[in-house]
Amino acid sequence: MSNDTLTVTDNRTGQTYELPIRDGTINAIDLRKIKTSPNDFGLMSYDPSFLNTASCRSSITYIDGDKGILRYRGYPIEQLAEKSTFLEVAYLILYGELPNRQQLDQWVFDITHHTMVHENVRIFLDGFRYDAHPMGILISTVAALSTFYPEARNVFDTASVELQTRRLVAKMPTIAAYAYRHAMGLPYVYPDNDLSYTGNFLNMMFKMTELKYKPNPVLERALDVLFILHADHEQNCSTSTMRIVGSSLSDPYVSVAAAAAALYGPRHGGANEAVLRMLMEIGHVKNVPDFIASVKRQERRLMGFGHRVYKNFDPRGVIIKQIAHEVFAVTGRNPLLDIALELERIALDDEYFISRKLYPNVDFYSGIIYQALGLPTTMFTVMFAIPRTVGWLAQWREMLADPEQKIARPRQIYTGVMQRDYVPLEARG
Ligand code: CMC
Repeated sequence: MSNDTLTVTDNRTGQTYELPIRDGTINAIDLRKIKTSPNDFGLMSYDPSFLNTASCRSSITYIDGDKGILRYRGYPIEQLAEKSTFLEVAYLILYGELPNRQQLDQWVFDITHHTMVHENVRIFLDGFRYDAHPMGILISTVAALSTFYPEARNVFDTASVELQTRRLVAKMPTIAAYAYRHAMGLPYVYPDNDLSYTGNFLNMMFKMTELKYKPNPVLERALDVLFILHADHEQNCSTSTMRIVGSSLSDPYVSVAAAAAALYGPRHGGANEAVLRMLMEIGHVKNVPDFIASVKRQERRLMGFGHRVYKNFDPRGVIIKQIAHEVFAVTGRNPLLDIALELERIALDDEYFISRKLYPNVDFYSGIIYQALGLPTTMFTVMFAIPRTVGWLAQWREMLADPEQKIARPRQIYTGVMQRDYVPLEARG
């Protein structure tokens, strides 16, 4: 007889219930059997911020936060970062297997040939103020693509889903680069199909008067690895947003826009921008101890430290630190690196951070690399959104194919006034 059950005694009634345990979870809906009377709604679980709730089954990304493990479709992130390319990893994440030569060539061709955006996109980009935050531009422009591709709302049409997937992966760098060029007052640069995904992105960002832009191979590869590291991270805030918005069968453009909006905040993808601002504010290595002291007084957070899941180290942070050195060998050393290294050194040795299991996360070093590449801080979260689009789309596709998934609709514990009568304005105090 299997012991995979949980026996619960409800001390309010003395009744005992047996709940099945599957994959280390109980089904929350089984709790509803636990009632004090036939009219009772039944027991719910209360889990603000979803600290201990699995919302789906997923075969995309595996994380073991205690051991610092991150795998896409079973492949360790370290191997993918060393041996693969971003577009190959994108294929892996979306389709579950590494592509063969012919599949890879077709995939790269498809993405390369969907990079252009409709000319009207340029026109409404011009409507943004010169100092508009590129994340605001990216979010609104991706949402606007929904109006260009109305067939995208057929979310169960396989051919359409494939097309929209390719369009989104291909067009995100173009929109991102256009947002940057707009802010700089520079003319938009059309995609160059001879270049790689990241080489072309650098082209659309930085090409000036030269006839042909030649990306530096070290920087092109560094960016490719950064994109691999950011491609998916299971059920985080933005991915859950993608699934929740997508669960109402909204089209993938507005769903990606919603996910990108969730990414924007400083506790999520906005952290890399916040790290840079923090390093600039600290200004000098000699100011690091004072800064750490204010963090320990809980007046502020050490941005780029801590993670909801990783409690020993963030494996992406380890790879990024190596990349930083490769990039600085080309661009020259970013002086903020010394402040970052000193912050890391002190924090990793300090009881406050050790006891709370706070370690550098993916965002701690990515910002200084982006700055060394010549990107303004406002572009950092955009640099996260481009590769994460792959993860959002893979999770969205998995959600739509999952018969257990319905429209997402959490419950609440109502804490307001139960009922009262309307008071006319003149009778109110
Ligand atoms: N600096 C100082 N103290 C911190 C920090 C930090 N960065 N992060 C957590 N703590 C403290 C927090 O004050 C609390 O202390 P106490 O128990 O005394 O009240 C304890 O550590 C637990 O914090 P928490 O807020 O309950 O942890 P969480 O799992 O809810 O938060 C986090 C995770 C990533 C939001 C948080 O660590 C944070 O705000 N970090 C800084 C922002 C950041 O770097 N975000 C990027 C995350 S990685 C990329 C991504 O996925 O977007």
